[in-house]
Amino acid sequence: MKKKWLIGNWKMHGNLASNKALIESLRAELPQPDERATMVVCPAFPYLFQLAELTKDYGVGIGVQNVSDHLQGAYTGETSPLMVKELGGSYAIIGHSERRQYQGENDGLMGRKALAAIDAGLIPVICVGETAEERDSGRTHEVLGRQLDAAFGYIRTAHDKIILAYEPRWAIGTGIAATPEIVQTEHEFLRQRIAIRDKEFAAKLPIIYGGSVKVSNANAIFSMPDVDGGLIGSAALNAREFVTIYRAML
Ligand code: G3P
Repeated sequence: MKKKWLIGNWKMHGNLASNKALIESLRAELPQPDERATMVVCPAFPYLFQLAELTKDYGVGIGVQNVSDHLQGAYTGETSPLMVKELGGSYAIIGHSERRQYQGENDGLMGRKALAAIDAGLIPVICVGETAEERDSGRTHEVLGRQLDAAFGYIRTAHDKIILAYEPRWAIGTGIAATPEIVQTEHEFLRQRIAIRDKEFAAKLPIIYGGSVKVSNANAIFSMPDVDGGLIGSAALNAREFVTIYRAML
């Protein structure tokens, strides 16, 4: 069985007390994660150190929701992937659609951020996805291909370790997930596009789905052959829901 991944994107939610309560609830629901599936939580930056401390003896990974495309320098307000690594982070979500939408981040920047994350020893979770308008106008594969090519302009398939996340923008936060059939179609497209570059890398690459994954739809989505896990937003803030979704992967 290929290793599975469940990554919780906490977005701009949480505080010291609620973060501690959520991790305690996670531990109560799931005393230790299963070796077949890696669980990762990604708090907002200010809580990275707290989460690393709270999970020292608990087998979940810690990630962040963004990093700079530089390792150090005069970049006011930015966070280096080296700093994330030093504080116990292992993963970095890159190119989330909310950053593309609200911070105007583009494909080329995503590729540079992914490379900086890798060079700092992090695993980038590279997000690609189309808008409702792009899907409705039949441009989904054009958009996904462009986003993928930009990221892979920097990725060295010979040795770089990444996770790819398909997150259709029309499914994020809407409560309306893509159907399992759509998810499988797009994951297959992404895997085949990468296989053009490197068949072995494409076969091993974890491709996870994000966009309104809930307890009610997790089994059907995770049962698709090219789905290797999930990138979870709102359901990650509820320990019981997050663990139930995690167990749906096993
Ligand atoms: O990064 C995952 C997130 O965008 C999905 O959010 O609330 O639709 O699960 P949600």
